[in-house]
Amino acid sequence: MKTLTLPLQKKTKETRTSRQDIIKFYDEATEDYEFWSKDLNMHFGYFRWGKTNPFRRDSMLNEMNSQIYKRLELIGRHRVVADLGCGMGGTMRHFLKKDPRLSMIGVTLSPFQIREGNQLLKGKNGVILEEDYTQTSIPSKSMDGVIGIESLCHSGHNSESLREGYRLLKKGKKMVIADAFLKKPPSQLCPGSRFGYNGLCKGWSLDGLGIINDVEDRLRQIGFEKVKIEEVSLHVAPSVLHVPFAITGFLLKNLWKGNPIKPQSWNNLKASFYSLISGLHLKDFGYFIITATK
Ligand SMILES: C[S@@+](CC[C@H](N)C(=O)[O-])C[C@H]1O[C@@H](n2cnc3c(N)ncnc32)[C@H](O)[C@@H]1O
Repeated sequence: MKTLTLPLQKKTKETRTSRQDIIKFYDEATEDYEFWSKDLNMHFGYFRWGKTNPFRRDSMLNEMNSQIYKRLELIGRHRVVADLGCGMGGTMRHFLKKDPRLSMIGVTLSPFQIREGNQLLKGKNGVILEEDYTQTSIPSKSMDGVIGIESLCHSGHNSESLREGYRLLKKGKKMVIADAFLKKPPSQLCPGSRFGYNGLCKGWSLDGLGIINDVEDRLRQIGFEKVKIEEVSLHVAPSVLHVPFAITGFLLKNLWKGNPIKPQSWNNLKASFYSLISGLHLKDFGYFIITATK
């Protein structure tokens, strides 16, 4: 199997949200995601009639991975995919299991995720690097696919992160993004949505969600072609409905064991709750999968 021989140098760059906030959040709260997903998927799921069980969260979370994989339309004997903001590498492990001809590089800011995520990737053809996804050390035009699942929201789906995805891709290859987006500017949100939005940005250390039309324009300006925007909010809703049960279960388990709830865990719990409130305002928010070709 082809092995990865990419430079492991670190690069630093300040983003608008404090990098330290993001690092602190994920270093402290990543362990909690075990409660959300035994495969350590740190995203929402994708429900499909007849294919996924709405009561089994991991089947929906992994279906989201499959949906992203499918949209990359990978071809060729050896292919390499970059995961920008890879978390614990849940998506990477899912892809690598599915596709033995694939190699993967994930980047994240969190040293905890690098340490633990790389342990889980041992013996597999993937590696997680400590890098900023707006400025990676991955060579230009080297990737057969680039993905960003619920990660680019940390920088508001800004031009730097999208341009980095473009730089990494070989000509004709695809970047696939899955995330929540705003359907209108924050100033035009109704009070309920604004309440939910402010809470989730604060709790999850987000710069702010991208406005879907602006992100589409940004992708075209960067040079992407065939930008396909799919709203999948109703496919995602069943997994969002798991949030209150997961939060309650998490709290009860920790109370029962006498474990204190860490500050970043509280932030995570609060943000999850706010995401549920936001999810109820489909006029203002939506969950989208974007596929853009270089
Ligand atoms: C909600 S998690 C999603 C993880 C993964 N994509 C998944 O779905 O399981 C967001 C991830 O984005 C990463 N992240 C946020 N800002 C980043 C940045 N500027 N550069 C690299 N990674 C970043 C975090 O470290 C975290 O791993």
